[in-house]
Amino acid sequence: MLQHVAIIMDGNGRWARERNLPRREGHLKGVENVEKIVRKTGALGIKYLTLYAFSADNWKRPASEVSDLMSLLETFLVKQSAMLHENKIRLHTIGRIEELNQKVYQILSRIQQETSIYQDFHLILALNYGSRNEVLDAVGRYAKAVQRGIEGISQLSWTTFRKYLSTGYFPDPELVIRTSGEHRISNFLLLQSAYAEYYFSPVYWPDFGPDCLESAIEDYYKRERRFGMTGDQIRQERTAPINSNL
Ligand code: IPE
Ligand code: IPE
Ligand code: MG
Repeated sequence: MLQHVAIIMDGNGRWARERNLPRREGHLKGVENVEKIVRKTGALGIKYLTLYAFSADNWKRPASEVSDLMSLLETFLVKQSAMLHENKIRLHTIGRIEELNQKVYQILSRIQQETSIYQDFHLILALNYGSRNEVLDAVGRYAKAVQRGIEGISQLSWTTFRKYLSTGYFPDPELVIRTSGEHRISNFLLLQSAYAEYYFSPVYWPDFGPDCLESAIEDYYKRERRFGMTGDQIRQERTAPINSNL
């Protein structure tokens, strides 16, 4: 069963350029698409949806674009907080959100707190996120835990270490989608997607509607995930559970 879908929402700028519109319009359309995809994911019974909304490297964009993105994020959060409650969606973030502007940081913290009562559907926004930073932060936290005697170096294993990542207690994504025809990962969930299926769509994010998501999921279910084993083993093991922490 598909539990966790992660999406690299790419192509807003090209969507706008093809229409002779400013990039901001592409981002606006992209934000509008988020609600549709969130609803569709929930309707499909998928419990976790991670959206790559702003990477740690996106600060390198022109200041005006960064500021447009931040103000769109703020408006989105204010507008969608009612929708999150109505649909009992718990909001989480991954990434160094304390480096975002204070207002956005406070809104994010408040909504995360308020929605922490919901358990059935988790929306995870990757904001100022980069896998390498995440690993550094996790190693730092692990080292502190060792100093305090909470963890030991000899017991270091993936199971103990993964809890220190920002995705700590979420299952790994089984499906990672990237829109807009780019075939790269751009520092997104590098460790968590070790055994994920990737799905690359040529469609720009503002046009990647619920039907496109359904096609991606259909494609996912046609694949055979082997986790290092042979196809024959997998077919024999279909009735036995596969270790999802692999
Ligand atoms: C994705 O669209 C949104 C963010 C990265 C914030 P882009 O802005 O990267 O769109 P393209 O890649 O320039 O078309
Ligand atoms: C990745 O897209 C980040 C997000 C979708 C938020 P980019 O457009 O920033 O990635 P690159 O620069 O093309 O690799
Ligand atoms: Mg891009």
